[in-house]
Amino acid sequence: MLHVDSVSKHFGGLKAVDNVTLEIQQGTITGLIGPNGAGKTTLFNVIAGVYAPTSGHIYLDGEDITGLKPHQLFAKGLIRTFQIAHEFSSLTVLENLMMVPAPQVGEQLPSTWLQRRRVRQQEGRTR
Ligand SMILES: Nc1ncnc2c1ncn2[C@@H]1O[C@H](COP(=O)(O)OP(=O)(O)OP(=O)(O)O)[C@@H](O)[C@H]1O
Ligand SMILES: [Mg+2]
Repeated sequence: MLHVDSVSKHFGGLKAVDNVTLEIQQGTITGLIGPNGAGKTTLFNVIAGVYAPTSGHIYLDGEDITGLKPHQLFAKGLIRTFQIAHEFSSLTVLENLMMVPAPQVGEQLPSTWLQRRRVRQQEGRTR
């Protein structure tokens, strides 16, 4: 499902991730372990589109997703979560979950004035 092919990420002379290849099968839970500074978070960030790799490729279901931005990866079903949850603390749990389906009409500011009915209907279905 996810194939990381010879991926490196360098920060100047520092090789945070150096030629990593791994394959993750659908339906499995895979852990990545290593000492502090080993490059785990950097590899996650490269897979999640936060950083483009210095070299190498990442494939999702055979499609080359190297260098795509996090929102583009989200549309393909790949997201990262964080060790410390980054929820919208002023919203309820339900409202936080309602943020997930994308794209939503109400994400465009003008739509919240000009297409109120559509926004309300879509939010109703999502709820
Ligand atoms: N943005 C950055 N700029 C420069 N160096 C960085 C950057 N991000 C990480 N590094 C360096 O890359 C190396 C790998 O760091 P990384 O955070 O990926 O390790 P880690 O395995 O997640 O560590 P930990 O277990 O402490 O979370 C470290 O030497 C770190 O200082
Ligand atoms: Mg880390």
